[in-house]
Amino acid sequence: MKKKSVNPFRLVILISGFGSNLQAIIDAIKNQKLPVTISAVISNRSDAYGLQRAAQAKIPTHIFLKTDYSNAAEYDSALQNCIDQYQPDLVVLAGFMRILTPKLVNHFAGRIVNIHPSLLPKYQGLNTHARVLAGKETEHGVTVHFVTEELDGGPIIMQKNIAIYSDDTVETLQEKIHQLEHELYPLVIKMIAEKKVKWVNGKVVISN
Ligand code: GRF
Repeated sequence: MKKKSVNPFRLVILISGFGSNLQAIIDAIKNQKLPVTISAVISNRSDAYGLQRAAQAKIPTHIFLKTDYSNAAEYDSALQNCIDQYQPDLVVLAGFMRILTPKLVNHFAGRIVNIHPSLLPKYQGLNTHARVLAGKETEHGVTVHFVTEELDGGPIIMQKNIAIYSDDTVETLQEKIHQLEHELYPLVIKMIAEKKVKWVNGKVVISN
């Protein structure tokens, strides 16, 4: 039997919804393709389906509702304390639909990543598939980046792209992009856990 590492690389994953990226990470761990552990899953919505995925995988969950706090600073201070309890090596944003305060982002600088459904720096923000189609682009893709104060603007770690065909729709792109995300996110997390991807003075350094 394979021995478990004494000090596994710990993730805290933040979600807001369906949680398919969370599931991809859970599955990669289960299939022994990703040598990390998920210490907790945190959602800003109580109805996020990803919470059920976490419960199914016996991962502790927390819900932080906006309505329980008087402002973003208070919210993020409570969120930061909760994340810190787990002493994570990496905070993973997986469809977390809330803008984090600079204070929180800076607290986790170099230890917090996000996945975005576009080839950043193109198409920051929401509804990327519709905007990519409206922009008559010939390719689309996915970006994993470190999170900084600039929304969807942190240093890029890795991207994967696909061609756009004339019969593609928002729905077909959504499916293809999700598929790419599910391959890319576990891979990048593995590279960070293995110290093949590093944050050095605000820049990404990749080695093999
Ligand atoms: C993904 O497309 C991700 O790129 C974006 O939010 C979506 C989350 O999907 N940030 P899921 O909840 O992981 O299924």
